[in-house]
Amino acid sequence: MKALVQRRYGSAVLGELDVPVPGRGEVLLEVRSAGVDMGTWHLLEGKPYLLRVIGFGFRGPKSPVPGRDVAGVVKETGPGVTEFAPGDEVFGTCEGSFAEYAVARVSRLARKPRNASFAEAAAVPISGGTALQGLRGVRAGQRVLVLGAGGGVGSYGVQIAKALGAHVTGVCSTGKVELVRSLGADEVVDYTAEDFTGTYDLVLDCGGNRPLSRLRRATTPRGRVVLVGAETGGSLTGGFERSLVALALTLFVPQTFVPLMSTERGEVFDELRALVESGAVKPPVEREFPLARGLDAIEHVHSRRSRGKVVVTV
Ligand SMILES: NC(=O)c1ccc[n+]([C@@H]2O[C@H](COP(=O)([O-])OP(=O)(O)OC[C@H]3O[C@@H](n4cnc5c(N)ncnc54)[C@H](OP(=O)(O)O)[C@@H]3O)[C@@H](O)[C@H]2O)c1
Repeated sequence: MKALVQRRYGSAVLGELDVPVPGRGEVLLEVRSAGVDMGTWHLLEGKPYLLRVIGFGFRGPKSPVPGRDVAGVVKETGPGVTEFAPGDEVFGTCEGSFAEYAVARVSRLARKPRNASFAEAAAVPISGGTALQGLRGVRAGQRVLVLGAGGGVGSYGVQIAKALGAHVTGVCSTGKVELVRSLGADEVVDYTAEDFTGTYDLVLDCGGNRPLSRLRRATTPRGRVVLVGAETGGSLTGGFERSLVALALTLFVPQTFVPLMSTERGEVFDELRALVESGAVKPPVEREFPLARGLDAIEHVHSRRSRGKVVVTV
């Protein structure tokens, strides 16, 4: 099969690999589209270096193919699989979706939304799942602030918070203002022109470059700051210490800081499918790249130029 092959950190080339064989509880997918997010860039580069220590491969990447978000068709089922059958259209996560075929655990898959293309479905799992988990507990009428609202997680954050009945303020740079407005944000703040004001019941921080003290001031006394991620934490730990400081801070201030570690589970993807099928969430696909240009797709996301989501079409 054709795949983007990654033998060492920092580079990948289009090459040929054997089609993988599904094991117990796994299926072989014919990949139609693969989603791209900042995590794809981190795993391609092996940065922050902390990633190498916690199991993604010390000297080189464990997975020879980049890409985790996937949408495709079940080609073959492994032993013990009863949830899916060949021909089923699914989406979820796997190891190595930048390829014609990939093996995925059934526990990380759900049926593809009926009203979504493969490209749209592949744009949902990690970013949508992270936003959904970050917004757990939000109630109708609450005020939600989304930082990085024009990015992958933030663009779902705006839509899901609106679906929960919240009043949503999205913060982004100038080029993403129109997108964030079109996603349904009640207010959009272009941070290059003005700073956000007011207090919020929940702050979803998907940009990560504001001091924790600033986030605290933007949060009601009983509110929560959910720290999704940052690209400003350096190549060693990626800002892991910011999460530790935030946890410590929670002991001394009325607000709660929650460093988010999202999980990839079929049940989460089922919830997202329902949101997409109801029309409450529309996967915001900005651009599709062919497999041969997979590295360009990753670089486009890393450059901060991407608006919403980017996918690789196989
Ligand atoms: N905790 C988890 O489980 C989890 C899961 C998924 C992702 N993440 C992390 O969460 C963060 C957001 O992910 P994403 O997929 O939404 O990323 P993304 O698509 O690149 O969006 C991030 C947004 O943040 C803003 N930004 C501000 N400062 C930035 C900087 N120095 N570098 C890049 N972007 C910057 C950019 O918007 P403007 O142009 O408007 O500034 C960008 O649109 C990333 O750090 C990612 O690694 C964490």
